[in-house]
Amino acid sequence: EACWSQESQISAAKAAARGHGAAAPQAQPAPARCPTPSPPAFGFLFDIDGVLVRGSQVIPAARDAFRALSDGDGQLRVPVVFLTNAGNCLRKAKAEELSHALGLQVSPEQVILSHSPLRLFSEFHHKCVLVAGQGPVEENARNLGFKHVVTIEALRKAFPLLDMVDQSRRPKELPPPTTDFPTIEGVILFGEPVRWETSLQLIIDVLLSNGNPGAELEDIPYPHLPVLACNMDLLWMAEAKMPRFGHGTFLLCLENIYKKVTGRELKYEALIGKPSTVTYRYAEYLIKQQAEKQGWKAPIRRLYAIGDNPMSDIYGANLYNSYLKSAQQNQVEAAVKRSPVAASAQTEDQPEQREDCNISMESCESILVCTGVYRHNAEAPGNPEECVTETVFHGHRDFCFDPSLVEASYVVQDVHDAVQLAFKKENWS
Ligand code: G3P
Ligand code: MG
Repeated sequence: EACWSQESQISAAKAAARGHGAAAPQAQPAPARCPTPSPPAFGFLFDIDGVLVRGSQVIPAARDAFRALSDGDGQLRVPVVFLTNAGNCLRKAKAEELSHALGLQVSPEQVILSHSPLRLFSEFHHKCVLVAGQGPVEENARNLGFKHVVTIEALRKAFPLLDMVDQSRRPKELPPPTTDFPTIEGVILFGEPVRWETSLQLIIDVLLSNGNPGAELEDIPYPHLPVLACNMDLLWMAEAKMPRFGHGTFLLCLENIYKKVTGRELKYEALIGKPSTVTYRYAEYLIKQQAEKQGWKAPIRRLYAIGDNPMSDIYGANLYNSYLKSAQQNQVEAAVKRSPVAASAQTEDQPEQREDCNISMESCESILVCTGVYRHNAEAPGNPEECVTETVFHGHRDFCFDPSLVEASYVVQDVHDAVQLAFKKENWS
């Protein structure tokens, strides 16, 4: 099989570089590449923290995995989307960070942050929203389409009598009352803020004052203003040997304070980020876009979602997989309703018929690695299909604890093993 293996390419390049046969390379047309393998019908969803990196440290298996995923020119051979619950940076910055960590070009279109699906929530884009989080929160909010953005810091400055916990930050003398501050119509929680006491106090003030924290209200407004939250991870893995507080811990504090103060439940208009299905539907859309851009004609039918956190990565992938299964079932039923005889004939022996119902994605397999939240430094079970049951539910209050949803299709040691396992399943060299 006269194929241009990597070695021969490198040696040819080196030969060219060294000038041996310098002339020859010039003169000789590039030897015929072996026919490119058939276009991929599968793709990958990669979690970041605990799978590719631990804080600022790159997990060595990540580089091996992406070497296997790319061709000699560093081009990915299959569609890849990076699906993280992080949200304290710009998409572009995360793409640059990944390019550096993995040694290949990652484009912002391949990165989904916890808040990326907010661009779909256009009904809130013209409302005056209070945003909480850290890093470029305001810029992220504007990039997502929000026109009227108020930060916690701006609110704190406008109403300096609200943030009283840290005595060193209390106003030295009584400030004049603020009168012209816009009424807040919604709250967007992007991720873990710094100074939790300030964000907790001011968010609760806004909810209890229906958006006018300077005003005094008779009754507690309920339902309260819409609250959208991104990233429900209670814990995540950075460099430390034990998991770190995630945004889910902040939400837990907020929910319990609101409950204790009002006797009522804090309600979310939307919970975004893994494990919510809207995030995976967005990933499916980006995967298809990438395949199209690469000119890979075969429809992408199967996804492999690799993660370290059973409560978000595995729960999310399994929830999305059951969504795909039921969507397919609905289509078959719809087709049958449309024309019973034709439909049944069609669906069986002409699967392409399903295309007209534009759900070509068939499955999303969840692969759990042991380099992050899950069992920290435990060894992967001998057989990847051995089931691992989680006992304590670290998932968010509003996601039901269904043990089958936190059970990974496969458990492997690290991301390189995960990629090799998928290649094997796809019979992909
Ligand atoms: O804040 C990020 C953390 O919650 C988890 O990130 O990449 O593991 O989804 P990731
Ligand atoms: Mg992770």
